[in-house]
Order: sequence, then structure tokens, then C-alpha cells
Amino acid sequence: MSTDRPRKALIPAAGRGTRFLPLTKAVPKELAPIVTTPTLEIVIGEAADNDISEVLLVVSAGKTAINEYFAPAPELEAALEAKGDEAGLAAVRRPTELATISYVEQKEPRGLGHAIGHGKDFAAGEPLAVLLPDDLIDDRDALLGPMLDVYAEHGGIVLGLIDVGPVEISKYGCVVPAEGADPEGDVVAISDLVEKPEAGEAPSTLAIIGRYVLPPEIFAALDETEPGAGGEIQITDAMRNLCNAGTPVHGVVFRGRRYDTGDRLEYVKAVVQLAVRHPDIGADFQAWLRDYEPTDG
Ligand code: G1P
Repeated sequence: MSTDRPRKALIPAAGRGTRFLPLTKAVPKELAPIVTTPTLEIVIGEAADNDISEVLLVVSAGKTAINEYFAPAPELEAALEAKGDEAGLAAVRRPTELATISYVEQKEPRGLGHAIGHGKDFAAGEPLAVLLPDDLIDDRDALLGPMLDVYAEHGGIVLGLIDVGPVEISKYGCVVPAEGADPEGDVVAISDLVEKPEAGEAPSTLAIIGRYVLPPEIFAALDETEPGAGGEIQITDAMRNLCNAGTPVHGVVFRGRRYDTGDRLEYVKAVVQLAVRHPDIGADFQAWLRDYEPTDG
């Protein structure tokens, strides 16, 4: 099967962000910055870099700061222009220029599958890339591009995978490589999936990370998916049903640099790892970091 490269992406951004309270009382977690750029802008930038120009954000009530961030700010832009602040102006305009962004509200937190189900009208019969904004992929390494290529070749479902080893696997959706598939290869055919298997019962150490390419059939499958792990509608369960019914499923095994900003410790590590590469402050920060020793008072 040969098919077109997907042009649309859905980004779930409706979570309460409880691991980031108290910040998330007022600031959506997706706007937490890496130096000065929100994680959500970085992820939309990744989609844009891969020729995806239409983005649907699934948000919850009260997350209006996200809409404000991606809308033009004419007064601020005029003030920066008057000052001749070209860099500031470019930075303020960038989020409004990356993609055409639309919004849909998820009224109840019923799981990732339920959130993705809100993309049916937006997809309008086309395949959809899904990017979870907690996962940042280093811009020197490629994941989404190769996934879109695999979709164009095979159709069906394409997943971003990492090998997390046997201890971590129970935190993720896990895949079963098809018979004869080389789990060491870059593209792995998949015969089954399981959401967050018990430690010791996982069929592999290959974990699904926050990058998916989903075919239009996913919406009918989601409609028929009962609540699963945690009482939530799981995208892994809907994909499993399609897989068992014959939809091809492939994984692109990512061995590059990934930053998980969904957890406080990992978020701080991500800020440090990306700040040392920042064009303005990176060199000074790295020099300072080399000598940094915590003091105890
Ligand atoms: C979700 C999915 C899981 C996937 C993970 C990737 O879990 O349900 O299959 O491995 O995202 O980040 P969550 O992290 O929302 O618990």
C-alpha cells in the first residue's frame, strides 16, 4: 500500500497537570518553558518542520492561556517594531506563524483515547499524526519524518518506539514485534500491543512514546473501545483492536535524544540539556555549570 504523507496533527493538551501544581493553577503545563519557549511551541515546531501545517489542540476549559499564546499580539508587536527589536518581534510572531491551529474542548478527562477521538471532524477522513507535548525530540535527531515515510509506504498505524528495558516498560504502552521482525532494526512490524503491562509480564521492552500516525479508521475503533487501564479510554486498546482486525502496525525505533517533560525531575534535566545549547545563553550557562557546586547554606 502506498499513500500520502499526513498533513495534519492532533496534540492533546487537556490534562490538569497535577504533577506541576501549583504552577498549573494558572499556567497550563504545555506552556512551561524551556528557557523561554513553551514545550508546546517546540512540539508544534517539530510538526511544522515535517510539513504538517494544520494542528488541532485538544484543550480543557480554563486553558485560555494556550489560545492567547498562539494568537497574534498586535499591540506588543507594534511596540517591539517601534523599538526596532527584530529578535523580540520574530520570537513573538513565531508561535502564530508555525501552523494553522484550531481548538476543541475535551469536557471530561476520560483518557488519551477519548482526547484523540475529538479529532474526527478535523481529520475528515485523512490520517493524523498525534504528538504528545510531554515528549520533546531533539531537533538534531529525526523521528516524526521517518514515521511519516513509513506511513506513506505501508499505511495503517505507525508508532514511535524506544527500548526502555524491563524495569521501565510498565509505565508505557508496549508492543509485540511480529514473528520474523528484527527488534534491533529501525522499523519493526508489530503483531500486538498492550497498555502498561505488569513488570515481568511485558512481551518486549519496546515502549510507545508520544508520537503516533493513525489512519482514519481509528475513530470508529475508539467509539467501540471500552475504558481500560485506569478506567480511561486508552488509545493503545483502540489500536490493538485495529491491529487484531488486520490493520498494519509498524514502529520506528528511536535511538536519538528525547526529553520527557511530563515529570518534574525529567523536566528540569530537559531544561538544563537544552539550555546549554541555547544560542544566547548556552555557552555561558555551560561554563557556569562546569564549576557549579551546591552550597548548603
Ligand atoms: C500514554 C499512553 C502510553 C504511552 C505514553 C507515552 O500514557 O497511554 O501507551 O506509552 O503515553 O508517553 P501516559 O503517559 O499518558 O500515562
